Amino acid sequence: MKNILVIGATGQIGSELTLSLRERYGAAKVVAGGHRRTPSLELADAGPYEIANCLDIQALADIIKKYRIDTIYHLAALLSATGEKNPKLAWEVNVQGLINVLDLAKEYQCAVFFPSSIGVFGAGTPKDKTPQDTIQRPSTMYGITKLTGELLCDYYYQRYGLDVRGVRYPGLISNVTPPGGGTTDYAVEIFYEALTHQKYSCFLSEDTYLDMMYMPDALKAAIELMEADSSRLIHRNGYNVSAMSFSPKELTKEIQKWIPELQISYEIDPIKQAIADSWPNSMDDSAARTEWGWQPDYNLSEMVKDMIEKLKIKLDIK
Ligand code: SER
Repeated sequence: MKNILVIGATGQIGSELTLSLRERYGAAKVVAGGHRRTPSLELADAGPYEIANCLDIQALADIIKKYRIDTIYHLAALLSATGEKNPKLAWEVNVQGLINVLDLAKEYQCAVFFPSSIGVFGAGTPKDKTPQDTIQRPSTMYGITKLTGELLCDYYYQRYGLDVRGVRYPGLISNVTPPGGGTTDYAVEIFYEALTHQKYSCFLSEDTYLDMMYMPDALKAAIELMEADSSRLIHRNGYNVSAMSFSPKELTKEIQKWIPELQISYEIDPIKQAIADSWPNSMDDSAARTEWGWQPDYNLSEMVKDMIEKLKIKLDIK
C-alpha cells in the first residue's frame, strides 16, 4: 500500500495532484507537504498536512518516518522567469532540494516523481516535434537546473537502483492555483483577464508557439507514469509529454469563440520572449506513448471550453 508525500503541495501542480492522489489512494495515505502555515482548507482538512521545505533535510526525514512514506512527488521548484531574477536561489531550491529528496528516498527506499520541463531544451534543439533524445543546451538557470535534475535522477537509478521517474512538462494551464514566475503563464492569465476585463496585454509576441497542456492531463501523466510497469520503462526520466501547441494569437481566437469582446494587445517582455524563443514549439512524445501508454485527453478547444466553464463558477460570473 502506498504512503505518499507531495512536496510542493500548495503550488500550481501540487494543489491539484494532492487531491487527485487522495481520491485514488485514500486521503489518509497522502501527506500534503507545503511551505505555507495556512494552506487551503481543502488541502489541510481532507488529509494530513505538514510544513515541508526541501532544503530542510531533517524535517523531511521526520515526515517520511512519521507517515512511513514510500512514494514522493517532489514538485517544489522555482519557475523560469523567477529563476532568471534569482539564479542562485533557483539552483539551491531546484538542484540541492532534489538531491536532498533523492538522498532521503535512497535512505528510506521511496519511489520519486520528478517534473522536468520544456525548459531543458535550448540552442540547437530541433523546435518542431522535438525528439525525446536530442541536443539539450538550455540558456536559462531554470533549464539548467531541470536538466541537471534529469541527470541526477538517472544517476540515482543507475547507481543505487532508486525508482525515480519523470516527465518533461510543457506549459501547464489550470484554474485552481495560478502558476508564478513562468514564461508560459500568459496562457493562464489571459483567461482571468478575458473573463473579468475582456482585455489582456500579453508579454509574448502573437506568433510565439509553445507546447502546452491542461492540468488534468498533467496529473494523469504523473500518476500513470508512477503506476507503469517498471520493466517497460526504457527512459524512466525526462519523458516528453505533449498535448497541444499554440501561439497567443491562436489562443485568443479560441477564447473569443466564448468571449467575443476579448481584446488582446502585446507588450513584449524581452527576457520572457527570449526564454520562449529558446524552447520547442512542440515535442514528440512517442517514447511516453510507447513505454507507458501516455495519451492526453484535452486539445486546445476542449481545454478552453473547460477553463471558461470552471473559471465562471470560481469567479462567480454569469
Ligand atoms: N511553465 C514553466 C515556465 O514557464 C516551464 O516548465 O517556467
